This record gives sequence, C-alpha cells and structure tokens, in this order.
Amino acid sequence: MATGRNMMRAVQVFEFGGPEVLKLQSDVSLPVPKENQVLIKVHACGINPVETYIRTGTFFRRPPLPYIPGSDVAGVIQAVGDHVVGFKKGDRVFTFSTISGGYAEYTVSSVDTVFPLSDKLDFKQGAAIGIPYFTAYYALFQKGSAKAGETVLVHGASGGVGIAVCQIARAYGLKVLGTAGTEKGMELVLKNGAHKVFNHKQKDYLAQIKEFAGDEGINVVIEMLANVNLAHDLQLLSSGGRVMIVGCRGPIEINPRDTMLKQSSIRGLSLFSATKEELRECAASLHAGIEAGWLKPVVGPEYPMEKVAEAHKDIIHGPGALGKMVLLMQ
Ligand SMILES: NC(=O)c1ccc[n+]([C@@H]2O[C@H](COP(=O)([O-])OP(=O)(O)OC[C@H]3O[C@@H](n4cnc5c(N)ncnc54)[C@H](OP(=O)(O)O)[C@@H]3O)[C@@H](O)[C@H]2O)c1
Repeated sequence: MATGRNMMRAVQVFEFGGPEVLKLQSDVSLPVPKENQVLIKVHACGINPVETYIRTGTFFRRPPLPYIPGSDVAGVIQAVGDHVVGFKKGDRVFTFSTISGGYAEYTVSSVDTVFPLSDKLDFKQGAAIGIPYFTAYYALFQKGSAKAGETVLVHGASGGVGIAVCQIARAYGLKVLGTAGTEKGMELVLKNGAHKVFNHKQKDYLAQIKEFAGDEGINVVIEMLANVNLAHDLQLLSSGGRVMIVGCRGPIEINPRDTMLKQSSIRGLSLFSATKEELRECAASLHAGIEAGWLKPVVGPEYPMEKVAEAHKDIIHGPGALGKMVLLMQ
C-alpha cells in the first residue's frame, strides 16, 4: 500500500552489487505520466535474469543510480497523459518496458509498450508475458526464421522464455523438443507444448536428442545457456540449421569447422535491439495467442517485495525453473 498520497513502496538500487543492494523503500515519490505515458498501479512484476545482470553494474545497460529495476508489469491504469488515446483509468494492462521501473507499487510506461490484459489472464500471468514471450517470438521467427514443419530444440525450456517458446512453436506447427533439469520442469515443458522432453542434467541426453531427431536433425535451437551448450548444439543441427543465442553467461570454445558442411548459422539476439516494427508484430501474434487460448503464461515462484533479494538469488542459483518468477505488490 502507498504510505502517503504521493509516496509509494518501491525497490531501489543505490549502488551496483549483489542481491543485497536491492533496498525496499517506503517513501519513493509517485512517478507522474507525461503526454504519451500512463501511470499503472502495479499488481505483479516479472523477474528476469537480465535484472540481476544490470544490478551488478557489469551489463552494457547501466542505469543512472538510484534506479528501480523491472519492466514486465501487470496492473491497472491509474492515470493517463494528455495525449493518450485508447487507454483510460481502470483498464487492466501489461507491459514489457517501464520508464520509472517495475519493482514498485506504481510505474510509468510509454503508451506504445502497454497492452490490454485479457480477462482470461490474471495479473501474475500478465507479468509473465513481457520479455519472455516477446523474446520467444523474436528468436523463433524474426531472427530464427522458423517455419511450420521444422523441428525446434528449446535448450532450457522450463523457465520464462523456454515455456513461451514451447507454446508459440507448438501453436505455429513446429515439432517441439525441450530440455529441463528436473522431473517437475520436464513435466511442465511437456504440458506446455513440447512433443518430447529431455533432461539436460543427464549425461547421455544429447545422444537421446540426436537419436530422436534422426538423420534430419534439428532445424532451430533456441539456446538459453550458450556458454555450456553451443559446441554441442552444432552437432545436433540439420543442414541449414540455426542456433539462436538467447542466453549466455560466459565464453565457450567451438570449432568453426562444425558449421561448414551443414552451412549452419549461429545468431545472437537481444530484445533490446528489436525495432518498433518488430515489437508491433510480436505484440500482434501474442495478442492472437491470448485470444485463441494457446498463450497461457505459467507462473512459478512468487515473492513479496520484502523478499526481492531472495528472488534475485534464486533466479540465478535456484534448484530448477518452473515457469516465470514474479514479484507481488498488492
Ligand atoms: N537475448 C535476449 O533478449 C534475452 C531475453 C530474455 C532472456 N534472455 C536470457 O535467456 C536465458 C533464459 O531466460 P529465462 O527468463 O527463461 O530464465 P529462467 O526462467 O531462469 O530459466 C532458465 C532456463 O535455463 C535452463 N538451464 C539451466 N541449465 C541449463 C543447461 N545446462 N542447458 C540448457 N538450459 C539450462 C533452466 O532449466 P532448469 O532450471 O530446469 O535446469 C531454465 O529452463 C537467461 O540467460 C536470460 O538472461 C535473453
């Protein structure tokens, strides 16, 4: 709850560092929406790994201090800027980007990054759409050129982005293989669109994938941990296959020769580099998915604002992903 008329609770970072630099404050000024912005009363905010990288100060994005982390908000519009059309006070919405930060009771977003939240989804599910689903569509189709009938391996399918890729790829007619590191994660991946799931902690899982994919191999790998898997991914590809690097936490040695015979591609991507046009296309596809019912965000661990530091530890070092981690404000 807001502590005063113009004050709110928010998680602020005053210095870069470990999870302990996330400070819950109760006297943060409410942001004010400008002409093309909306003020959202936040119910839930998705927690993404990138927010931990930014917090350390070693990521290419270094916001001026102090800042409030978070981008994937779901909530209710509280006020709109003078030039805003299409939204009004009381509308349920979600975003993939905020101007003032999402780990807060209120946030301001530019109206072109705000979307109506269907009655089919609750606020926690709304907070699970943003970065994960936009990245999933961007990686699969706009950068990975995936097509119906192709086979995709979602290497790390049990987390926020992975489940989104599985649901989208299945809806678009791909054959979907996924991996997870726990039994529960594997169950979740199978329930959310994968035709077959493998355990990336089992020694022989790559041989199992190879056998399952047969001579044709994998057309597209959506890779969540390239620093561990990239060299192996190249062995799994079909002729003309593509590895899409979504997640990477360090260097890895590969043999470029492994790309030659099959004319394979390795392509990195960052949602931060997507154009407005690309984001509009993502949004349209995701909207259709919500309407049709195949886009159903899976909410995993939930944390109150007081436990935000724990959430940042768990998203990097937790025992196994089970959907999207969310921070709850209301
Ligand atoms: N490029 C971009 O624009 C972009 C956008 C969003 C996210 N990302 C990055 O993509 C990655 C995934 O994001 P997320 O939000 O889905 O994170 P998340 O919810 O924490 O999920 C992490 C996923 O990685 C899996 N994983 C763990 N060890 C693995 C291994 N050895 N091989 C393959 N997968 C493994 C996890 O499986 P288990 O836990 O079941 O073992 C889980 O499925 C992160 O590195 C994130 O920073 C990049």
